[in-house]
Amino acid sequence: MSTSTPERSPANASDSVTDRQRAPRHIAIIMDGNGRWAQQRELPRIEGHRNGVSSVRRTVEECARLDIEQLTLFCLSSENWKRPSHELDFLMHLLEQYMIEERALLMEQGIRVQVIGRREGIPVRVLNEINKTIEITSTNKGTTLCLAINYGARGEISDAVQQIARRIEQGEISADQIDEKLIADNLYTSGMPDPDLLIRTSGEMRISNFLLWQISYAELWVTEKYWPEFEESDLHQAMEIYATRNRRFGGLTS
Ligand code: IPE
Ligand code: MG
Repeated sequence: MSTSTPERSPANASDSVTDRQRAPRHIAIIMDGNGRWAQQRELPRIEGHRNGVSSVRRTVEECARLDIEQLTLFCLSSENWKRPSHELDFLMHLLEQYMIEERALLMEQGIRVQVIGRREGIPVRVLNEINKTIEITSTNKGTTLCLAINYGARGEISDAVQQIARRIEQGEISADQIDEKLIADNLYTSGMPDPDLLIRTSGEMRISNFLLWQISYAELWVTEKYWPEFEESDLHQAMEIYATRNRRFGGLTS
């Protein structure tokens, strides 16, 4: 089963994928269902995460090839710390490995890596590899790959409110200067475009504390496939459906 959305693809779907006008600038993905994919195969959950990395690689590569401005991936939520420690250790190991092993490929594809989320709780050796990858890819001009690690949207908004409150306390700004732009500028995603298209795998119809502020007008697309099964053709399908959506942003016509 490929999608739970009833919409039809346009007649000539392949054209719409490459249609710049209708292509999303920023795609965000909630990569869900690694554990269930593994359980279905009677494998340990960590095997699902290992296979999930292959989906990440495919998706990143395809977004770079399609010249998507930004791809944001939800890798670890601030709520995921509730998981068993061996699963968290394995996720940290995968993250460290990804940062080391993908570096050359990311450079080759001109991808710039950025990270959003709180650094606390991430082992130093993993942080070091993350920082190295951010640093080395910082001047690349291709797709921005933004990894949400130990990320939670409510925490992000709380951090932004604290920063703004401190500036008010110090007399730098007044309360009536708080507007949407100031708030956006104090989020971890400051300077990034809002997601146009939000994809979720494994069929769950929820946002799970991901980019709450930024997805106000994102188009949503949910597939029943588990994340390790997600392929280029699923990305294309999501983009094709996105291209048929009439985005009105509260107005009457797009
Ligand atoms: C999503 O897979 C990946 C991460 C959150 C790291 P899950 O681990 O949430 O898989 P399910 O939802 O238990 O199947
Ligand atoms: Mg899940």
